[in-house]
Amino acid sequence: MSKKLFLLPGDGIGPEIMAEVKAIIDWMNSAGLAKFETDEGLVGGAAYDAHQVSISEGDMEKAMAADAILFGAVGGPKWDKVPYEHRPEAGLLRLRKDLDLFANLRPAICYPALADASSLKREVVEGLDILIVRELTGGTYFGTPKEIVTLENGDKRAVDTQVYTTPEIERIARVAFELAKTRRNHVFSSEKHNVMRSGVLWKEVVTRVHAEEYADVQLTHILADNCAMQLVRNPKQFDVIVTDNLFGDILSDAAAMLTGSLGMLPSASLGAEDAKTGSRKALYEPVHGSAPDITGKGVANPIAMIGSLAMALRYSFGMIEEANKLEAAIAKVLADGLRTGDIAAKGEATVGTKDMGAAVLKAFQASF
Ligand code: NAD
Ligand code: IPM
Ligand code: MN
Repeated sequence: MSKKLFLLPGDGIGPEIMAEVKAIIDWMNSAGLAKFETDEGLVGGAAYDAHQVSISEGDMEKAMAADAILFGAVGGPKWDKVPYEHRPEAGLLRLRKDLDLFANLRPAICYPALADASSLKREVVEGLDILIVRELTGGTYFGTPKEIVTLENGDKRAVDTQVYTTPEIERIARVAFELAKTRRNHVFSSEKHNVMRSGVLWKEVVTRVHAEEYADVQLTHILADNCAMQLVRNPKQFDVIVTDNLFGDILSDAAAMLTGSLGMLPSASLGAEDAKTGSRKALYEPVHGSAPDITGKGVANPIAMIGSLAMALRYSFGMIEEANKLEAAIAKVLADGLRTGDIAAKGEATVGTKDMGAAVLKAFQASF
């Protein structure tokens, strides 16, 4: 049976990196490795320009019906003055919320060939393999009230609300513990229970889920500010880090630089498993944004986007061998010395988006 892939390239470098993933999907179809039926929609500024909304109802329906969504990036200075509820980022937030994609997996792997591309010393990052599990449908992003009100004296008051409930914390904790069992069996739970009530509940619930269901997994509680510091000081002490929506956003950008570049980090946003079918809603996207500073120059690194396709093969389609081969193709191309600008050392020769994409595809093809 064919599988429905819904592509949302978005804005900025989104369409440039998505083109490289499309070429891989086309080849997998033509080589008989997969039967992907692809459709494409508009999201972010691209959707706003066409329909004055950040995603149309029609595209939301297609996203709901897809087996997996591949998402490029949204946003950019062109839409700075767009009303808040229609800004490009709102389309992405709606997809996450309406599809209940609560579990955001953000792996940060430092490929051996890139150990010198990180701003940290080689020995600090070489061999790094950590996984940030970010809660994606709760917390400050979605809590209400969320508003700016004008006070009687003319001053303004802005409010965002950090809110978590027991079931929200339980389900993300289970995802983290389950994933840890397939790795080095160690979960770090990161919050700020010293100043936030939501942190108190977070720690309490994670502690209970651990004791009742995952006592064989090692659990370490770590305050989020210390976690940020430790990520830079000694990142290899970590295995799985489970954290809330906002801390997870920030910690994952920091983790990106351990790998050499934000252009390297893929992600998977997963919903709950359907008890009957075993399938789950899922969206795959690079961790980075639309990179307005390099848009249209053909220099964006497509690896985070290609790595997101590899995660889709693994988590949505059970194509573990193909996912491993695609990731190995990325590693091979890097080992061969190919570099986009963001991962090149000073003075090193660089290639553009298309050459990098083509080289990964070629290495992937050669592995069958
Ligand atoms: P950004 O991630 O777009 O860019 C940060 C820096 O990293 C830039 O210098 C950029 O050139 C570089 N970079 C990012 N991806 C790269 C790649 N693949 N190859 C090479 N270099 C790369 O973050 P920003 O500049 O803070 O945000 C720009 C816009 O993107 C904003 O509108 C923001 O809201 C949006 N954004 C969207 C997403 C998303 O769609 N998931 C994520 C983050 C930011
Ligand atoms: C990310 C992005 C998004 C977030 C924005 C674009 C809404 O920064 O996916 O990391 O803050 O979650
Ligand atoms: Mn982010």
